[in-house]
Parts: sequence; C-alpha cells; structure tokens
Amino acid sequence: MYKYTIDSGYTIQGNNKLNGSVNISGSKNASLPLMVASILTDEDVVLNNIPNLLDVQVLIRILSKLGKDISYENDRMVIKSNGDLCSEAPYELVKKMRGSIIVLGPLLAKRKCCKVSYPGGCAFGPRPIDLHIKGIEALGASVNMEGGYINAEATSLVGTTMNLSGEFGPTVLGTDNIMMAATLASGKTIIEGAASEPECTDLANMLVQMGAKISGIGTNRLEIDGVSKLGGIEYTVIPDRIEAGTYLAMAASSRSKITLNSVCSTHLEKVISLLKDMGCVIETSENSILIDASKNELKPFNVETLPYPEFPTDLQSIFTALATSINGVSEIKESVFPDRFTHIAELNRMGSDIKLHETTIIINGGKPMTGADVQASDLRAGAALLVAAVVAKGISNVHRIYHIERGYEKMETKMRSIGVNIVKKEDDIL
Ligand code: EPZ
Repeated sequence: MYKYTIDSGYTIQGNNKLNGSVNISGSKNASLPLMVASILTDEDVVLNNIPNLLDVQVLIRILSKLGKDISYENDRMVIKSNGDLCSEAPYELVKKMRGSIIVLGPLLAKRKCCKVSYPGGCAFGPRPIDLHIKGIEALGASVNMEGGYINAEATSLVGTTMNLSGEFGPTVLGTDNIMMAATLASGKTIIEGAASEPECTDLANMLVQMGAKISGIGTNRLEIDGVSKLGGIEYTVIPDRIEAGTYLAMAASSRSKITLNSVCSTHLEKVISLLKDMGCVIETSENSILIDASKNELKPFNVETLPYPEFPTDLQSIFTALATSINGVSEIKESVFPDRFTHIAELNRMGSDIKLHETTIIINGGKPMTGADVQASDLRAGAALLVAAVVAKGISNVHRIYHIERGYEKMETKMRSIGVNIVKKEDDIL
C-alpha cells in the first residue's frame, strides 16, 4: 500500500522516572524578533544560541525573500544584506508561522512600504492583529487589506504616544512590531501598555546595542527616540523559559529529580513559586534549576494565566497535564487566549477527568492515566500530551508532532537523555 506520510509521531512507553540533566535551548519567541530586527540595518547581524526549529527555518526563508543572505549552523546565525530588497512576505510562508507579522514594522521603517500576508488563526482562536495595525497607523502609515494581504506604506514614520493593550492585556508581537518601527521613526514614541515579557526585553536590549534609544525596558511603558540608522551586532539570545517550564512540569508529574542547565531562573519566578507551593523542592543558581519532586506528596493548585511576570499562558496546557497527576482538584484560569483548550479532549482520552467552566479548567487529578493514540493540535497542546505520556501506564502514540518540533529543539533526544522511553517514527495520515 502506498505510504502517505506527512508527519512523524512519538511513541512513548510511560510510567518513567526521570533523572540526570537537560540543556535548555535558546528562546524560540526571542529568536524570531531578533532575526527580524536584522531588517533594520544593512550591516551584518550575528546571533548566537538560536535553536534549530521549524519556525526558525521558515523565518530564514522569509528573510531571504526580503533581501538577506543567511548562514546558520550550530546555533550561530549570520545575517547579511544582499541588496536585493523585496518587501513582500508571501502567503505560502506566512501561513506557516503567523509570528511573521512582525516584519511589518521593520519593513515600513526601513523601506517605507511592505506587503505582508494577513496571518491566519491557529488551533486556539482567531489571533487578531488589530493592535499591530493601530500602532503602525499611529506612526503615520496608511494601511489597506486586499486579497488576504496587508499593504502598508509611509512617506515617513513620526513618533507618537499610543496604548498597545487590548481586552486581554498587552500584545507581545505587537510591542515588538511597533518598537522596531519606532527606532527609525522621527521623534519620540511612547508605548503605554507595552508587553514586558523577557522576549520583548531581549529584543529591546539588542536594539539598544545596535544604536537604538529605548528607555523603560522591562516595564509596560517604553519610550523610543528615533535615530537615523542602526548598526550591525553580535548578540546571544536568552534561554527558552517555556521549554524550561515544560521539563520542570515533566519532572514534577513523574515525581522525579532532574537539573536544567543553560536556563534563566529569574524568567520563571512565578512558575517556580507555584511548583514549590505544590511541594516540589527547587534550588536555583545563576543558570541552572534543580527540581526534586520525589520528596513530598504534591498538592493541587489554582493559578491564572496573565501577562508577564504572572503565570504564562504558554505553560497552561502543560500544567493542565501536570495537574492530572496530582490527587485533588486543581484549577487553571486562562485569561490571555480564551480558546486555548484543544489539549483537554486529548488528555481525557488518556483517562484524565478535566472539565471546562467558561475559561477555567477544572482538573480532578490523581486518576491513573493510560497510554493512548493522541494528536497534537498546536505547539503547547502537543507538549502537554508528552508530559502526560511520560507518566501514563502503557504506550502512547503522539501524532502530528510537527507542531511540537516548531518550538522544541531536539525534543526526542533531550527526553531520552533524562530517561524517557521515546521513539520517533514516520506517521501515516490515513
Ligand atoms: C506571543 O504571541 C507568543 N508567540 C505566544 O507564544 C504567546 O502565547 C503570546 O505572545 C502571549 O504571551 C511568539 O512570541 C512568536 P499576543 P502574540 O499578541 O504576540 C490579543 C507559543 O506557544 N491580541 O501577546 O501573537 C490576542 O488575541 C506562542 O510559543 C489582540 O486582541 O500574542 C491574545 O488574546 C503561542 N489584538 C492577547 O492579545 C492584537 O492585535 C495576547 O496576544 C494582538 C493580540
């Protein structure tokens, strides 16, 4: 029979205890804006600690179309300008990664025009970009939508004051977009209600080292004084706090003791304090975290996802999986993406008892989980299934793992290195 294979799957023999240590990769959500910031200069940009992910590979192709020559190996990326300046981010690439919308601001600032495919939604909702559009129009751009594309142009960008918070709080990529555009605008731009996630801070720090004038970094109010040009840079991206949180949850749910290396524990303060409240023993140093979840009976927890520095929405599905291993009723209220629940049905296929009341997930944990065939629907929902599969009795087959590989570098190798019985194999679509 003809094998239709579009994807791979992970097969995991559950009921594992973990041990040893795992190295955390560079942050996906910081790498993407740092790569895009190269549009703002004609000089070389060298980025270290960039993880080799599907999203990074897609963005390399987009930047190559926008006039950049990129070489990338062993987590080191060199981005050069080749002078062939196209200003269109095409549908066939943007549809693969909606985060590519952040080329809008830099292209406008550097080339005064751009055409960017309107990003689609994803598995957990429409993913609007109204705040991005509001920001670039505030800077003086004229924008129209036609044929699924955003056409924007501006004879010049002029600094102004704006608020980039919406119904669900600040926008991370919206802040990145407008901050980058404002670095080359004339005059002062003040962004009230800016996102203060570590990934935004990492971008701001790099822009300053390229010659930008930004104050209020790390706060919800950024002030950017426009400059005439930005120079090249060599910069190292921060560690991935969400990857780190994923391995912490894996250790907690399997009642194991592991060490995370090359991690920034200050980016995970709320996550670490929640794990300690549950009963995990955690020791942190400058770039490592030791978690020991074998000492105490873990207690159920209540948490709400909110903008940084509160508990991150990207760990909501993963901590839902963790809660299924803890006796008692835990509750997680999702207040950033009100449709981010596709993992619940898949976890319930493994035997969990999870209900949804409005945007609060209620997990009646402690029931034995059994291995099953389950399907990843997005990056973090897929990661949640892996956390559950590590603990479940029997074999789990996690399908459509390209979602997971968008954001987790060498996941199979790293999980095997801490004791998980995991194999990657081709997967049929039929
Ligand atoms: C970034 O997405 C991250 N992605 C997401 O991580 C993360 O979940 C999210 O920030 C929140 O922390 C990248 O950095 C590539 P938002 P972003 O704009 O910027 C609403 C992952 O798993 N909103 O901060 O697209 C929006 O609907 C990904 O790594 C508007 O209403 O998210 C949401 O409810 C998933 N209008 C809230 O704001 C807008 O114009 C926060 O979204 C923009 C956003």
